[in-house]
Amino acid sequence: MDTKVDIFDTTLRDGEQVPGCGLNKEEKIIIAKALEQLGVDVIEAGFPISSPGDFESVKAIAETLKEPTICALSRAVEKDITTAAEAIKNAVKPRIHTGLGTSDQHIFTKLKSTREQVIERGVKAVKLARKYVGDVEFYAEDAGRTDNEYLARVIEAVVAAGATVVNIPDTTGYCLPEEYGQKIKYLVDHVKGIENVTISTHCHNDLGLATANSIAGVQNGARQVECTVNGCGERAGNTSLEEVVMILRKHRWLPYTTNIVTEQLNPISRLVSETMGMPVQPNKAIVGANAFAHSSGIHQDGVIKNRENYEIIDPNEVGVDESTIVLTARSGRAALAFRIKKLGIEVPQQEHDAIYQQFLELADRIKLVRDEDLRTLLNQYLATSIK
Ligand code: KIV
Ligand code: ZN
Repeated sequence: MDTKVDIFDTTLRDGEQVPGCGLNKEEKIIIAKALEQLGVDVIEAGFPISSPGDFESVKAIAETLKEPTICALSRAVEKDITTAAEAIKNAVKPRIHTGLGTSDQHIFTKLKSTREQVIERGVKAVKLARKYVGDVEFYAEDAGRTDNEYLARVIEAVVAAGATVVNIPDTTGYCLPEEYGQKIKYLVDHVKGIENVTISTHCHNDLGLATANSIAGVQNGARQVECTVNGCGERAGNTSLEEVVMILRKHRWLPYTTNIVTEQLNPISRLVSETMGMPVQPNKAIVGANAFAHSSGIHQDGVIKNRENYEIIDPNEVGVDESTIVLTARSGRAALAFRIKKLGIEVPQQEHDAIYQQFLELADRIKLVRDEDLRTLLNQYLATSIK
């Protein structure tokens, strides 16, 4: 049987940190409900200490949603932790997410601390959080650039202090997939008590490797993936939820499964994009406008013959009605005939060549030939050329 991987969605916390994309309480509740329908296991609802508005949003989500775990972020700071605990106290399944930087870069130049003090602070934070909730996730910020031996010491100490989930963030999106996978494996092999907790990935996309790194993490022992809808997040964003889910689903030889209702992936992508006012790049995997659009003649001919010639995902599987055959100057005769047929206009076979030439001239001029352009072209042609 396939091993279940938990999907931890942080669209409402890390994703919402995109400049200009902040969400108010009502918007957060709408997205949280859609995430529950999508089947995510954990919703990171916000960072309650950050503002009164975010505190209220997290509280409202904790009181409204019943299925997923509701997680609140805090730094390893007493007031952050008590505020997070207050915000989620009415959740059916509450979780506090606390932690601090563990790389030498963070320890020496951000926290102005020492390696030993960081371990002490992490342990203290986890113990405090455990007084409020039974489910405490520890994050080792910038774990991607943290030396593995020291990281293992930090993780062992927080596990002994009561952490139930240990998050290994590649905060700066620095790691290569093999390197990140090895990091997770190192912890699996060297941390006492690791078998009793869930290891989580949390990868940023600064080098475009967030999804690849998360999958490498899973292949080496992580059982929770932190991600956002559309991969939204600070800088180049976070791991994209839809990509991770579809990779685990499409590669049958990967023995992992998730609870995600994949037909909801495109609807929730649009909801998040519209609510945040953040467009999705057209070539974005799974949810981009062009993800199931075919425009070159060779591909169009192949797709018309059999969709699977150029598609590894059935669009219906991810909530898209159908693949589209886009008409441009690179389109072939098969695509034109296909679209003419869809319009329901009868064109005698002997006229196809001439129409194709007129179509190419039009496409060179207007780039994208839509239904209405094609209809006009056909009507004019049929009116003037066929006596
Ligand atoms: O990227 C990161 O390290 C984070 C932590 C706060 C979990 O977002
Ligand atoms: Zn992050």
